[in-house]
Amino acid sequence: MGTPPTQLDLANIQGDILEGLPKKNQTFFFFRINPNKVPDFRVHLAQLAPLIATAADVKNDRERIRLEKERAAACKTTASILEMSGVNFAISQKGLTALGNTDHLGDAAFKKGMLNDAPTLLDDPNQFVDALKQDIHGAITVTGSSAGVVASTLANVLKVFNVGGEGASIDPVYQVDGQTRPGAEGDHEHFGFQDGISQPVIAGFSPSTITEPVSEVIPLGRVLVGEDGDLDSTGTTVIQRPTWAKDGSFLAFRQLKQRVPEFDQFLEANKALTDGNKEQLGARLVGRWKSGAPVDVAPLQDDFALAKDPNRNNDFRYDPGSQLRCPFAAHTRKTYPRNDLSNSKAHRILRRGIAYGPEVTDSEAANYQSSTDPALERGLLFACYQSNLVNGFQFIQHSWANNADFPPKTITSGFDTIVGVSPAGVPRTMVGADPDDAATSLDLTTDLFVVPRGGDYFFAPSVSAIRDTLGQAAQNFEL
Ligand code: HEM
Repeated sequence: MGTPPTQLDLANIQGDILEGLPKKNQTFFFFRINPNKVPDFRVHLAQLAPLIATAADVKNDRERIRLEKERAAACKTTASILEMSGVNFAISQKGLTALGNTDHLGDAAFKKGMLNDAPTLLDDPNQFVDALKQDIHGAITVTGSSAGVVASTLANVLKVFNVGGEGASIDPVYQVDGQTRPGAEGDHEHFGFQDGISQPVIAGFSPSTITEPVSEVIPLGRVLVGEDGDLDSTGTTVIQRPTWAKDGSFLAFRQLKQRVPEFDQFLEANKALTDGNKEQLGARLVGRWKSGAPVDVAPLQDDFALAKDPNRNNDFRYDPGSQLRCPFAAHTRKTYPRNDLSNSKAHRILRRGIAYGPEVTDSEAANYQSSTDPALERGLLFACYQSNLVNGFQFIQHSWANNADFPPKTITSGFDTIVGVSPAGVPRTMVGADPDDAATSLDLTTDLFVVPRGGDYFFAPSVSAIRDTLGQAAQNFEL
């Protein structure tokens, strides 16, 4: 008899973690706690708790969407976008300290914060948005079915903290708005590739739509702290967490600028590697075609039927000895090497990003150059959840994407083509772009297609911890 699965309290877990808040738009609002208003902040936080969209709410919303799609299909019409909105909350180490909470959450990266982690991640803080170099205490994320819905939900949330009124308990530090791309590009990131396909399946949790092969199951404790599988980097020792942290998860947020015209130009300039097929070169750099079809399954041409088939589009294993079908340094192979490594599942994350910024203008496309106009900055608001930042995001960026010797092969694989950064003075190269000669090296040095603009590490606590541990009910406070 095995241990019975943990009974998940979906109404206590924030909605973005296990399944993701449904969204067309999303605003990330970063704030600092007013040092003179800490008791007020705690009261306001307790008032925020009932407004949090939980995993149970997400299930309801996703069921509404499913029924609408079913109705539209039956009537042969287009499904309407149902109005909905969700609020989630996360706190940084500096935020916990500002509240006087001295508990050690047991994660060295969280404790450090992302700005101090720049040397590990090979980030260049000179490229950071100024506000993201300031102290950040917490993040409020608001998702919704339109920009208008998100804006009005955020306005209501900010009223809870008296922002804009007398005695605000928080000061805004930075706000960034994301939106899914228009029309058929909807779920595609700005380079044009379908995103959000490969996600792990969480043991003990049934998502609204099962899209992944069962082989992708990870223990609940890889996502939620204090659950089965919440282990340190040795994979054997259970990490000690404060009891209030149960049902929470760590969030890594990064604003990643994408230089889209430059990426296109790079593909154009190097397409000889794939016999003049620019799309194939792009697919080999990412690991999937723009449609989402994995190159490991469809190495020679895009396959739309494969891309759309949830039973097949994530059901593959790399050949550990070969990069004929997929280069070792392709973004998807670097960030989740599957069977290249026996314990690659120990480093899985749940990705929850959204695109930001406008579409490429005609003039940018014609000149193969991103505009210097800040209003035309575009990219990915990358967000991911895990029970352990050191094993999750930090490990993937530091030990895999930025490590030319990973995965360990007889040939040096090179850096992750999309997000990998080489140490100062080391050329940013990769091999395997040319399927006919896997040893041909491709130099990506002058083309950092993705520029980190800053971010931070947070903890997304349970609803009860927001209400009772970090927050404080008004009447208790008055006693
Ligand atoms: C602007 C930056 C980025 C772009 C354009 C990008 C794009 C993509 C695309 C197109 C996919 C394939 C679709 C899918 O499997 O869902 C993907 C997968 C993935 N990305 Fe990224 N990504 C970016 C940043 C990052 C970062 C910073 C990380 C982590 C350090 C990361 C980790 C992953 C992982 C783990 C997968 C799934 C791989 C798999 O399971 O096969 N990505 N990304």
